[in-house]
Amino acid sequence: MEIRQIKPSDSKAFVQFYQELVSQTDYLLFTPEETSQKASQEASFIKKYDDYKQVFVALEEDKIVGYLGIGRSHLSKLSHVAKFTVGVLEDHKRQGIATKLIQFAEKWAKERGIKRLELTVITKNKPAVALFQKTGFKEEGTRKKSMKLEEKYFDEFLMAKTL
Ligand SMILES: CC(C)(COP(=O)(O)OP(=O)(O)OC[C@H]1O[C@@H](n2cnc3c(N)ncnc32)[C@H](O)[C@@H]1OP(=O)(O)O)[C@@H](O)C(=O)NCCC(=O)NCCS
Repeated sequence: MEIRQIKPSDSKAFVQFYQELVSQTDYLLFTPEETSQKASQEASFIKKYDDYKQVFVALEEDKIVGYLGIGRSHLSKLSHVAKFTVGVLEDHKRQGIATKLIQFAEKWAKERGIKRLELTVITKNKPAVALFQKTGFKEEGTRKKSMKLEEKYFDEFLMAKTL
């Protein structure tokens, strides 16, 4: 398995990967309808990724099977804090891929002076909560009714780790 920064030439494969991923989970923010992004648009986003917004991909035999998206503010008082989301395709879960993506992101973050990584996760998303606890993230609070899915509201944990 290879983990690396996304490149503009990954755009078509990444759009396909992300559509497959969101069709497998309700726990990511985009719905399948909201991911009908064209590869050409995606390539132009990827070209703009930098030290403030970035995507890492995990590849198995050249297929994208996992990703981690990370971003932070340009404001000097906040730029030491980065937020991220991670996802792995169903057939590739429980093989340590999300753990490796988080380790890769931590190294990237430390090299850029980032001191705090944070995320939000639906409280009933047990696999993800277990993943983040195992990789050293601590629950800092509960955001009530912070996600809506089909007229139902879900709470999220705010989880964070200082570097
Ligand atoms: C959560 C998710 C990213 C985990 O990816 P993964 O590659 O399977 O995770 P890993 O293999 O690195 O798992 C690391 C640890 O997390 C915990 N974990 C992962 N999946 C689990 C599950 N289904 N049940 C219980 N614990 C789980 C375990 O402690 C695991 O270690 P172990 O396998 O040695 O027991 C993946 O299930 C996913 O993409 N889910 C849908 C998207 C999502 O919910 N993203 C998080 C939004 S913030």
